[in-house]
Amino acid sequence: MALVVSATVYAGDMTRDNGSPVGDNENSQTAGPEGPTLLQDSQLVEKLQRFDRERIPERVVHARGTGAYGEFVADTDISDLTMAKVFIPGTHTPVFVRFSTVMGYRGSPEQARDPRGFATKFYTGQGNWDLVGINWPIFFIRDAIKFPDFVHANKPSAVTGVQDANLAFDFFAHTPEATNMLTHLYSDEGMPDSYRHMDGFGVHAFKFVNAQGEVHYVKFHWKSEQGIHGIRPQDLPGSIGKDWNLMSNDLYSALKRGDDPKWDLYIQVLKPEDLDKFDYDALDDTKVWTTVPERKIGTLTLNRVPDNYFETTEESAFAPSRMVPGIEPSEDRMLQGRMFSYADTQMYRLGPNFNDLPINRPRVPVVNNNQDGAMNSGDRKGEVNYEPSTLNEIAQDPKYKYVQTPLKGTTQQAAIHKTLNFRQAGEYYESLSSQEKADLVTALSADLNHVTNDDNKYTMLSYFYKADADYGSRLAAATHADLSQVKTRAAALGDN
Ligand code: HEM
Repeated sequence: MALVVSATVYAGDMTRDNGSPVGDNENSQTAGPEGPTLLQDSQLVEKLQRFDRERIPERVVHARGTGAYGEFVADTDISDLTMAKVFIPGTHTPVFVRFSTVMGYRGSPEQARDPRGFATKFYTGQGNWDLVGINWPIFFIRDAIKFPDFVHANKPSAVTGVQDANLAFDFFAHTPEATNMLTHLYSDEGMPDSYRHMDGFGVHAFKFVNAQGEVHYVKFHWKSEQGIHGIRPQDLPGSIGKDWNLMSNDLYSALKRGDDPKWDLYIQVLKPEDLDKFDYDALDDTKVWTTVPERKIGTLTLNRVPDNYFETTEESAFAPSRMVPGIEPSEDRMLQGRMFSYADTQMYRLGPNFNDLPINRPRVPVVNNNQDGAMNSGDRKGEVNYEPSTLNEIAQDPKYKYVQTPLKGTTQQAAIHKTLNFRQAGEYYESLSSQEKADLVTALSADLNHVTNDDNKYTMLSYFYKADADYGSRLAAATHADLSQVKTRAAALGDN
């Protein structure tokens, strides 16, 4: 027989963690008026113990973030491409979105020269789908094995605890594939003045799988209905001085006044046989599919500020590996590493049962034999905690098996062939207005001027010159460099 506990404490009365009423929350129990505090004051001890444990490890990257609830409404039939039910036209799917900067600590200023995270958790009828993207269509590196080095070089120095452009460019001088992303990052749009005023991208190609098992490669793009607006370099110090929580304050004030921001979701689609038709590797995340048209498939609206920062924004856990039937990973080498890394760090940051937390819990039943572990509060029931079983078999539907992907060659450790490291950076520079070009040169040269090692500085300048001669020449002038040296190095870089 279950014990029935009658509620003798009404909502609003203060209790201890065991639910018992508190008599005095402001005076500790002491031995007489002048004596020491007593260990038997369990209200005091419990309160201090809980306080002492309030912080959890911050995210190893993207520590500074802002979350909001909303919904995604699908509006276009793409069942020829994917069986994912989230895309059935008219479907309303609740979402939680977390925006973030990348390198700063949890309380750091939000106006950082950093990509902005744009992570969306769709609580779909087939389980959670996380689209964990950023505000640019590309990334700095193309192989997950470089990610810890990239982050170490860009996070605060291991000695001073302060970010150091000299270290960052020491890494980037050995990473020519970052030229495209760096050019985006130092542009005015690279410093959005609001999370509402930026787009979002899934960056990698993913696979769409339809009910017949046919595969298409797809890229996702959130287009802001608010438009795109950035902070110019000369306005940056004033902006940080005025409000270094600008992005959170802006988003939450908009939501509180009912000015709900919206983003339209667009996709680009490629057939597997078309992946090879470009002069770059179509699965290289440092590249944009410049010539592939986009089509709109739905709209995201953010409409609610969460009630509790810690239980939502801080405890939310997004992972590119969290997919639903009809969406699978491509062979992009960055995405493949991300498929492992997120759930792994979340088991460390939040514990093995992080998926049981309300913000992460799917809105559909979770039925499997994963069990136990610290802080388990799942509701797996019964003795049969294995499969297969005659006693209590859990059904599996073969139509949800992963697709089969053709393979070629042997195992290997080698870079991709079609690197094309510089051309798209040059095309992006060319697309900017003259003011935007000037601002890019101002912002980028300011950091390049911190580079004390001449070899690194000239290598970086040669990358930008290779992307576009005007771009490289202006950076060389702004960093007092010898242009002929820059040109010589750029010429040695080969033809891409
Ligand atoms: C191999 C490359 C990468 C690795 C290993 C990696 C790893 C990580 C890790 C460990 C976290 C912290 C997660 C947490 O504590 O919950 C994180 C957060 C994040 N990453 Fe990456 N990352 C990679 C590349 C990327 C790329 C290319 C993007 C953009 C497309 C991206 C977007 C994000 C975002 C938006 C977050 C924050 C999610 C949130 O708001 O909680 N990452 N990443």
